Amino acid sequence: MVEEVSTFLNCWPGQIILDCTLGEGGHARHLISRISPGGYLIGIDRDGAAIRIARHNLIGHEKLVEIEQANFADLTEVLERLEIKSLDGVLFDLGVCSSQLGVAERGFSFQLDGPLDMRMDNREKRTAADLVNRLSRKELEWIIREYGEERFAGRISRRIVEERSSRPIMRTGRLARIITAAVPGRGRIHPATRTFQALRIYLNEELEALKTALPQALSFLKPGGRICVIAFHSLEDRIVKHEFRRQAREIGHLQLLTKKPVRASIAEVHLNRRARSARLRAAEKQ
Ligand SMILES: C[S@@+](CC[C@H](N)C(=O)[O-])C[C@H]1O[C@@H](n2cnc3c(N)ncnc32)[C@H](O)[C@@H]1O
Repeated sequence: MVEEVSTFLNCWPGQIILDCTLGEGGHARHLISRISPGGYLIGIDRDGAAIRIARHNLIGHEKLVEIEQANFADLTEVLERLEIKSLDGVLFDLGVCSSQLGVAERGFSFQLDGPLDMRMDNREKRTAADLVNRLSRKELEWIIREYGEERFAGRISRRIVEERSSRPIMRTGRLARIITAAVPGRGRIHPATRTFQALRIYLNEELEALKTALPQALSFLKPGGRICVIAFHSLEDRIVKHEFRRQAREIGHLQLLTKKPVRASIAEVHLNRRARSARLRAAEKQ
């Protein structure tokens, strides 16, 4: 949703922008072209591998860009260290990037067989395999229901616990087969979609990071500064909607630019299937 982000952030030369989810630098490259000359983009990502790709993709723009491996929940610390006092624009493009989903070794995909890892930041110790093999059946059921909105959470967690009693579940392929066998019939999406989403969100504490980061990001925005958030599922989108409304109604210093979330165009969904779940919300600081 590069065009939509560009329209809502409405950047111009000289501005300071914070990209909280730099990923491989796709949005950043576009934003840099809008804020140069004289602008500055700070790019944060918790994934060292994505950052390495972003650095490569942003070669030639080093003077305009500062890249930090960090959790966006700690964005205040990052901005203070860089002595940035205020921002003209902030972008959150949530979820996973293609170098995470597309590499079997990262363990995010139920379509590629790899180690059951799912850590966005591989300096963290706990992996998805630790959750799947160590948590109680009740805890697994709760996670799968809460973060995957999976109606078969009970059946899936029971099956996981049965299967792990013979030998630990260490591969994404085996977990995907266990889930498929636990779920009756075939729906529109792969039966493992929601469980993999749930484990990833819980493991990486994604919703807590978003709840912590949004007020911090908004507090750095200048009057007239804009924020864009692209969410990929309803749990994330609900957090964004509530925080924007709270700051607009209760505190009164935010104007919503999108009443309903903006969806990707049919053309974009055609090119990139993941875009079908994207929902963009934007707001302007008053
Ligand atoms: C959809 S991708 C971003 C893609 C990017 N906008 C681009 O154009 O290449 C989401 C990125 O957010 C990062 N991410 C997710 N949660 C994060 C967090 N709490 N702190 C920092 N980065 C995070 C992921 O590691 C991933 O690289």
